Amino acid sequence: MTRPSVDRAQPIPPAEQPARLAALTAAVRARTQLVPRVGLVLGSGLGGVADAVERPVAIPFEELPGWPVATAPGHAGRLLLGTLAGVPVVALQGRFHLYEGNDPGLVVQPVLLFRELGAAILVLTNAAGGVNPSFGPGTLMAITDHINLTGRSPLVGANADELGPRFTDLTDVWAPRLRERLHAAAAAEGIALDDGVYAGLLGPNFETPAEVRMLRTLGADAVGMSTVLEAIAARWAGLEVCGVSLVTNAGAGYTGVPLSHEEVLAAGAEAGPRLARVLRRFIAEL
Ligand code: HPA
Repeated sequence: MTRPSVDRAQPIPPAEQPARLAALTAAVRARTQLVPRVGLVLGSGLGGVADAVERPVAIPFEELPGWPVATAPGHAGRLLLGTLAGVPVVALQGRFHLYEGNDPGLVVQPVLLFRELGAAILVLTNAAGGVNPSFGPGTLMAITDHINLTGRSPLVGANADELGPRFTDLTDVWAPRLRERLHAAAAAEGIALDDGVYAGLLGPNFETPAEVRMLRTLGADAVGMSTVLEAIAARWAGLEVCGVSLVTNAGAGYTGVPLSHEEVLAAGAEAGPRLARVLRRFIAEL
């Protein structure tokens, strides 16, 4: 199938989302009638969690209207609809990042689509650097709150009142109820799960050691290049949000060893199955 290439940078204000979401929903509904309860975004190296999705209908990003191919290595770039532990789910294997040159409105479109398809709960996952010095590689961290340091918001521009309010409260963007459920699931699986604050930066460069020290002073426990815009948009649109970071490396400057994306993917491969067990039980017991 050939089609005109997508301009990832084209501004998509909230007011333009409803028409775009209608086109996306129609494209998905041409392939499956599955109504998901839960939406999952699977971050760098964590796409393996998707292997647990049963009888998936898989749609490559580029086959959905307005979506470009995923460019980040370690991201498959597919939308999956299927069941997990018998519960209907929609999962994004890969995501759109700001650092790829995507407009914030595109970055958040998948989670808005989840809601459009019927999901009420959103689970965001990501790979992150450890800012809390006690969070070494392999640490799983339930996100208690975030600090948006991207300088961007997906809610800038004319609002779509039918999707969400002009001014969105973020007091409980990371739902305490769902975090408790994540902890219960982890405990039942015998898997350690910490709590912490996620700082979202633009990337794609990793931080300097001075920036990591600054982030610690600001109250962050982990740092990454995703998640915060998706959480904001999801809350705006009325989804209940939770998330887990996989700490793949100590933050820059802690060990003296340079950071690399290969290290991030390797830690994802090691810890992915652990996170998959937590999420499977979390979803089974919702
Ligand atoms: N910084 C930012 N993003 C990341 C890191 C990091 O150290 N590790 C994995 N994603």
